[in-house]
Amino acid sequence: MEASPLESLKRQAAASALEYVESGMVLGLGTGSTVAHFLDLLGERLAIGKLKDVVGISTSTRTTREARQAGIDLIEIGDRSQIDLTVDGADEVSPDLDLIKGMGGALLREKMVAQSSDRVLIIVDEGKAVDRLGTLSPLPLEIVNWGVLGHIHFIEGRGGEASIRTMSSGEAFLSDNGNLMLDCRFSGGIEEPTRLEVELQARAGVVESGLFLGIADLAIFGSRTGTREVNRES
Ligand code: 5RP
Repeated sequence: MEASPLESLKRQAAASALEYVESGMVLGLGTGSTVAHFLDLLGERLAIGKLKDVVGISTSTRTTREARQAGIDLIEIGDRSQIDLTVDGADEVSPDLDLIKGMGGALLREKMVAQSSDRVLIIVDEGKAVDRLGTLSPLPLEIVNWGVLGHIHFIEGRGGEASIRTMSSGEAFLSDNGNLMLDCRFSGGIEEPTRLEVELQARAGVVESGLFLGIADLAIFGSRTGTREVNRES
């Protein structure tokens, strides 16, 4: 079956990311449909011996399943002192490479793996580029399963609206860590992401936020006119 135009853009970004992978690397493996293309392509390259001795650290049960299917060896976070490179997707990418992540529900492990990595490479289709975070995507928060209304009121106090993520069955979505996800919408986007992140990190009961500020080093955008790479300005 022919891939949709959107899937082709994701695969294009994933293929470019592969150029940054070297034999012997420890790779952080993000989560999502774009990462699924990367895992597939990485598996192909390992199978033909063009890459060797690469091990991955998975950020979700989904990625663990997909990586195993692709024949990628996995280790646990902490098994090696260093993660050379993490490849992950994102829900939004700002011009200075700040991100919203977590619509796939894996933001906590993704942030833990990214923070332990020498380099973080983000692969997205061009539709994920925004001028201001929160314009297209809600901001996901992973929260403990108690005191949820308090967080909803907190977000309302900052001009947003928050709802508990549910599955198509109507049941609450639970992360791989057994926590709820709160999706927070801000009309016109998030005015001060850094301030909001500081406030969220200080809130007991918020396990982690989907704001990934100052974490990505490089973003690869798949676009109809070819791949575009943006490096973080240091
Ligand atoms: C999962 C994520 C994903 O990277 C993000 O949702 C993008 O996914 P996709 O590549 O399917 O659009 O943050 O927690």
